[in-house]
Parts: sequence; C-alpha cells; structure tokens
Amino acid sequence: MRNKKKFIKVAIDSPAAAGAGTIALSISKHYNLLYLDTGKAYRFLAMHKIKNPKKFNLNFAKKKINKLKIKDLNKKNLLSNKIGIEASIIAKKKSIRDLVHKFQVKLAYSPPKKYSGSCLDGRDITYNIIPDADFKFFITANIKTRAQRRYKELNKLKMKISFEEVLKTIKLRDKRDYSRKIAPLKKTKDSILINTTNLTKRACFLKIKKIIDKKLSY
Ligand code: C5P
Repeated sequence: MRNKKKFIKVAIDSPAAAGAGTIALSISKHYNLLYLDTGKAYRFLAMHKIKNPKKFNLNFAKKKINKLKIKDLNKKNLLSNKIGIEASIIAKKKSIRDLVHKFQVKLAYSPPKKYSGSCLDGRDITYNIIPDADFKFFITANIKTRAQRRYKELNKLKMKISFEEVLKTIKLRDKRDYSRKIAPLKKTKDSILINTTNLTKRACFLKIKKIIDKKLSY
C-alpha cells in the first residue's frame, strides 16, 4: 500500500469554462491529489502545431508528448483562444487522442508517491481515462456565464478579445466536443451533476467536498 490513507481518483468532465479547473484544483489541494488539466495536454500539442504547421505529424506529436512534464502545462500562452480552437480540432483525431490517453492514464493511476491520489478534468475522463474513478462529476454552467468567465480570464491575462468572440468560440468548441465520434463530451449516468452558474467558487468546493467526505467516511 502506498499510503495509509485510501488512494482516491477523482474524474471530472465539463464543457469549456464551466469552472471545472478551479474546482479540481481546490479539491486536489485539499485531498493532496495530483491535478491534471487534460485540456492543457491537447492545447500543448495544438501550440506545437501552430508553431510548426509543416513539421507537425504524428511522430512529431509523439516526441513532444513523450517529453511533456506537468510544469510545461502551466504556461499562460496555452490559454489563448487560438490554441483552444486548434486543440478542439486535433482532439477529434484518434491517433492524437491515443497519445494523450497514455500520458493521462499514467498520471491518474501512478502519480508521484507524495500524492494521495489523482484528480483529472477534461471531456472523456469519467468513462474513458478513469472509468473506475472513486468520484465522478459533470460540471457545467450556462453558456453566457461560461463565456463571461473566460472573457474575464483572458482579459486578466492581457489577451485582447471581445466578449462576442469568446462566446462564439465556446459555442463552436461545445459543438465539436459534444458531437465528435471519438470520445465525445457527455455526462455518464454515474457522474454527479454540478451546475456552477449561480455558485461561488467556495460553494462549489464545499458541495463537492461534502460528497467526497461522506463516501470516504463509510
Ligand atoms: O479544457 P480545455 O478547454 O482547455 O480543452 C481544450 C480542448 O481540448 C477542448 O475543447 C477539447 O476539444 C479538447 N479536450 C478533449 N479531451 C479532454 C480535454 C480536452 O478533447 N479530456
């Protein structure tokens, strides 16, 4: 056994800008879990595709993902709208998803020993990456709220973009993510739905903490 405490795996799926990342981070800190924002791995490859459009192929992507460290995913430029759009295009390809799949599974099931488990958020985490997760959540919010949150976030990062453009992009990405053939975004039956539209960050955290604590205390 790696730890006296139970090793827990938390899986979260959500459409773009629903607040999943903020919640996942606070839950990960509280329960000492490795946190992986899996969208950033797709964004990382998308960034390389934008930088090297001619060189980018499966082999090139494989080399990049093999060298990828979690700290590389903290770069602010990965949050740009352009990279988000490209990420949702490459995420439709099975070959790309297979590469990112391995990276995610390794971290979900074998995080560094200092952690008591893992928490991943994305689009296909609850049924594809960690189907046996101890806790599964589907986090959402209405489209305008999501666009407002993303608009504020990008503005804070000094990325110039209008609210209308952010809204348009989120609608486009939602359409791609929900309707793609491979690993589409969906709420599984065994995931708990959390709508963050009218909830503060603290309220979301407490709601999820209550659910986790209740099950852990059995
Ligand atoms: O979560 P984020 O908005 O950063 O994700 C960027 C894009 O990466 C998404 O729009 C989606 O197309 C893709 N993605 C995915 N599967 C995941 C995480 C993200 O297809 N697990």
